[in-house]
Amino acid sequence: MKSKDFNGRFHNYLLSAFLLMGVIFITSFGCSNAAANKEKAAVEEGGQWFKSYCVMCHGEKADGKGNMASMLNTPPLNLTTIAKRRNGVFPDAEIAKIIAGIENVPGHSTGDMPIWWETFKKSENITDDKVLQEKIDHIVAYLKTIQQ
Ligand code: HEC
Repeated sequence: MKSKDFNGRFHNYLLSAFLLMGVIFITSFGCSNAAANKEKAAVEEGGQWFKSYCVMCHGEKADGKGNMASMLNTPPLNLTTIAKRRNGVFPDAEIAKIIAGIENVPGHSTGDMPIWWETFKKSENITDDKVLQEKIDHIVAYLKTIQQ
């Protein structure tokens, strides 16, 4: 093999390796970007639902001072202190269950917090349980972003 051939081929290998690295970089960047966008859209949607369904009790700032708060036997909780009141840990699954109301969570069975699972089914016309769970998870994702 002539050394010129070898150099040429080596050069090609090098070039392909660079191109491959470029493709991998762009693809992975694109993917993580897509995931971030999806998360952002989820939080935004959760925020919209919060505005529509929750502010009357929990308040515009989620501080528990909604217009209806004074009419309730149990004060609606400040939803910006969910994590604070649990040693700094935000319990996604527990919060999703409290919102859905499908499972009795100790300390949250006074009846003043509406059971959203059935309400959303009717008001949003959702028949697929998986879709409904996703919507509730989006509200949870939103609440997570407003923790103190
Ligand atoms: C009719 C008034 C009312 C509305 C509307 C309402 N809530 Fe509540 N919520 C309450 C009350 C009252 C409590 C406290 C219940 C208790 O302590 O047992 C509560 C508690 C909660 C908790 C528990 C917080 C914690 O730290 O344990 C979460 C989470 C919550 N609400 C989310 C929501 C979301 C999300 C919506 C909108 C989809 C909503 N609430 C709409 C009255 C309401």
